[in-house]
Amino acid sequence: MKYAEISGWGSYAPPMIMSNEDISRVVDTNDEWIYSRSGIKRRHYSHVSTGKMAWLASERALSSGGFDAKALDLVILGSTSPEEYCPNTASWIKNELGAVKAAAFDLNSACTSWFYGLNVASDMIKAGSIKSALVIGAERISLAMDWNKRESCVLFGDGAGAVLLTASDKDTGLKTAFMSCVPDTRECLHLPSWGLSPLHFTNDIFVSLNFEGQEVFKNAVKGMSDAIDNVLSKEDIQVADIDLFIPHQANMRIIQALAKRLNFPMEKVIVRIDEYANTSAASIPLAMVDALNDKRIKPGMNILVATFGAGLTCGAGIIKWGDRVESISESSKSIPDYDGSIFDLMKDSFNHYGINASHLLTP
Ligand SMILES: CC(C)(COP(=O)(O)OP(=O)(O)OC[C@H]1O[C@@H](n2cnc3c(N)ncnc32)[C@H](O)[C@@H]1OP(=O)(O)O)[C@@H](O)C(=O)NCCC(=O)NCCS
Repeated sequence: MKYAEISGWGSYAPPMIMSNEDISRVVDTNDEWIYSRSGIKRRHYSHVSTGKMAWLASERALSSGGFDAKALDLVILGSTSPEEYCPNTASWIKNELGAVKAAAFDLNSACTSWFYGLNVASDMIKAGSIKSALVIGAERISLAMDWNKRESCVLFGDGAGAVLLTASDKDTGLKTAFMSCVPDTRECLHLPSWGLSPLHFTNDIFVSLNFEGQEVFKNAVKGMSDAIDNVLSKEDIQVADIDLFIPHQANMRIIQALAKRLNFPMEKVIVRIDEYANTSAASIPLAMVDALNDKRIKPGMNILVATFGAGLTCGAGIIKWGDRVESISESSKSIPDYDGSIFDLMKDSFNHYGINASHLLTP
C-alpha cells in the first residue's frame, strides 16, 4: 500500500455570523470597501474553542469515511490558535474521538498548517509507518482581531475542516507537494503576544495582529506561483491537466492574480472567501468539503491546492481524487448553538479594545 487516499471529510462552520454590515456598526468601514478589496461578505465567529470545532469536523470526517476512531494511527491539528499548547490540543481531540491508539500532535505554520500536515501524514502513510491519519485545520482567529486595526480585523473568520487519510493501493491522494518559507518576511504578518517570549508575555487571551497587507499580498502571489510551478514540473503535468484549483482563501484579488498568472479559468477555482473570510488553517479543508457537498469534485480529478501564511510559509500540491465523492455515513454529533447575538459573543473582545458596543447588546 503506497498511497494515502482522502477517504473521509468533514467541516464545522460556527453558526454565528458577522456580516460586513454588522462589522460596520463597530468599526469605521463599509461593505463596499471590504468586498471590493477582499471579496469578503461575511465571516463566522465561534462560541467554542478551536479544539471543539476540530473535534466535530473530525467526527464528521470519520463518519464520512465509515472509519472506526479506535483504528486511527494519528491525529494532526493544524492551527495557529489552539486553546492549549501543553498538553497539545490534538491530544484532547484524540481523547474525545475515542482514538485510543492514535498519536497526536499540533502543527503550526499559520495558514499553511493544514497543508503542511497533509503532506507530513501522506508521506508517513506512503512510507508505511502509519496506515491512517486525521488531518485537521481549525482556527478561532476571531480572538486575534484588534478592532482598532480596520485594515486587518475585517479579513478573518473561524471554522474547522478535516480529512481522513487511509493507506491504499489505488493511485490517489497527495501525489506531489512543495513547502517553502520566504526569507525575511516574518514581520509582515505577526501575532507578537502569542507565545512565551519574555519581551511580550501577556495573560490576555486577546492578541493583536501586526500586518503589512501589500507586502503579504506581493509575497503571497510570488510564493504560491513558485510552489505551483514546482509541483507541476515535478509531476510533469500542464495547467490544462488540472481539473480544479482550491487555493487558500485570504483575498479574492490574490486568488484572481494567481489564476491569471497560471492562465487558469476562474470557473475551475473554488472560492468561499465571500462566506467565511480568511479562516487560516481551516480555509482549504472548509472549501474542499463545500466543493464535495456541491458536487464540484468528481472521481479521478486532478486538484491543485496552493497556500501561504505567516512566516511567510507557502506550499502547493496536486491531489488525485479517488473513486468516492459521497460520504459513507453522517455523524449525529453536534455542538449546541450560542444563545445570544454576534455582538453579545464578541463583547469581551470589544471591551478589551475600548470599542463601545453596549447599545448593540441583547437587553
Ligand atoms: C489588506 C488589504 C485588503 C488592503 O487592500 P489594499 O488594496 O492594499 O488597500 P489600500 O492600500 O488600497 O487601501 C488602504 C486605504 O483603505 C483604508 N482602509 C483600510 N482598511 C479599511 C477598512 N476596513 N474599511 C475602509 N477603509 C479601510 C486605509 O485607511 C487606506 O486609506 P488611505 O488611502 O486614505 O490612507 C490587502 O492588502 C490584502 O488583502 N493583503 C493580504 C491579506 C493578508 O495578509 N491576509 C492574511 C494572510 S494569510
